[in-house]
Amino acid sequence: MSDLALDAVVDLDVPGPTINRHLYGQFAEHLGRCVYEGFWVGEDSPVPHEGGIRLDVVEALRELRVPNLRWPGGCFADSYHWRDGVGPREDRPRIANVHWGDVVEDNAFGTHEFLALCELLRTEPYVSANVGSGTVQETADWVEYLTRDDDAPMARLRREHGRGEPWPVTFFGLGNEPWGCGGNLRADQYASLARLHSTYARDLSGNTLQRVAAGANEDDYAWTETLMKQVSQRLGDEEPAPLFQAVSFHYYTIPGTWGAKGSATDFDHDTYWTTMRKAHRVRALIRGHSAVMDAYDPNARVALALDEWGTWFDVEPGTEPGFLYQQNTMRDALVAAVHFDAFHDNARRLRLANVAQVVNVLQAMVLTEGACMLRTPTFHAFAMSAGHQDASALAVHDVASRGTRAVDGTDLPTVSTSASVKDGSVLVSLTNLDPAAPARVRVALRGGSVMPDGATVLAAPEGAGSDDAVRAHNTFDAPDAVAPRELTTVSLTTTGAQSTLEATLPPASFATVRLALT
Ligand code: AHR
Repeated sequence: MSDLALDAVVDLDVPGPTINRHLYGQFAEHLGRCVYEGFWVGEDSPVPHEGGIRLDVVEALRELRVPNLRWPGGCFADSYHWRDGVGPREDRPRIANVHWGDVVEDNAFGTHEFLALCELLRTEPYVSANVGSGTVQETADWVEYLTRDDDAPMARLRREHGRGEPWPVTFFGLGNEPWGCGGNLRADQYASLARLHSTYARDLSGNTLQRVAAGANEDDYAWTETLMKQVSQRLGDEEPAPLFQAVSFHYYTIPGTWGAKGSATDFDHDTYWTTMRKAHRVRALIRGHSAVMDAYDPNARVALALDEWGTWFDVEPGTEPGFLYQQNTMRDALVAAVHFDAFHDNARRLRLANVAQVVNVLQAMVLTEGACMLRTPTFHAFAMSAGHQDASALAVHDVASRGTRAVDGTDLPTVSTSASVKDGSVLVSLTNLDPAAPARVRVALRGGSVMPDGATVLAAPEGAGSDDAVRAHNTFDAPDAVAPRELTTVSLTTTGAQSTLEATLPPASFATVRLALT
């Protein structure tokens, strides 16, 4: 019997659906030190900035090719009145952020600052409207302010505030978690509100909005069905009504309970494996929501959006509980890798995702402390996966993989994988979840000839024990303790019309292998 943890086949000449680049979206909420300190340092800051936006964070994030950025929340979005954040900063009102630490903010970062950030990041905006405590008129006015190109009242106001051209706005969220912080509504109540707000969130001056209806918590498939019934009256409708173009859901990976989630850095092997089991659950959730949507929209015109996902642990000791600041280890990077594989495998329906959140909150890409900044292991997993953006998914067919582990009564695969092809280049992602043993993997590549084009691995520093393999993380004293390095234990052999990729993955590692089609 072979000892291959993964034994699989990929047909290079059978491309699947496009992996929408927007699956690699980010999320920035007015929460803790995400927007303020994380991005916004202000125009008088000694931290290098452009117009008050810190440049170290911008430069790092550019490496990720961030496709879209969701803002201003989250729960905050349903308390946010956009007019508080435009016009001269000294005239902007102070407001209480009742969701996150009950702190008072001065609205220095508003619509213009967000769109300036998007321009610096070269990313597309995902603006979330206030459906919970806002009015339909506020929604209509905000869309006009953002996207209208004439002298209509809101376009004129924008010009008075210093911006002539409208901004291209791609995504427009219709509230957030209406079943919870966004109003404690029932699905049918929210559906009526979503219909109203989407009607008045108009396509103006050639801008086309992708309206995202705020969807389910985890496996609330009934919520998704209620929303799908708004756009499709009959099962199997060929063309859904253009009320909203996406339906979202949220899913966080929490090792413990909401009351005691567990430490970000100090966890044992059982907790580690439970975390991985919970991360894997995202695959079943995507499939569940997709199945409901398939019934009402078989042509997949309406996208599924996972516009909040990521790890959620107890906050770092000594930090404000409402700020959701947590460290980020190799465990987080592996959770991200497991999500990416699930995204790629379900790319026909799932076309938007936003990790929570980009800076200093939950599963962050970068952490800041004063003028210092570090890249987290999750950052590196995103960077290594950027080549999958807008590539065609390639199915990875399991032939005889041996790698499974019993976790909390379920059999969990210990290797996760996915592949894609774009512009003559194949990218294979390989994740070994086992912190205690390397994994041998073999992928037969059929239907095309390939040459090796480099391989990268993200893992704890060599020689780390099995605890450190998953707990390894970067600190401001050692910002590059976990960083990608070349994967040397990989080979490609070609016999006749078939090439075989073989690799040994270090314990608890994420690897990407690039192959050039010849
Ligand atoms: O990302 C943090 C919070 O988690 C968001 O504000 C909310 O939508 C979710 O509950």
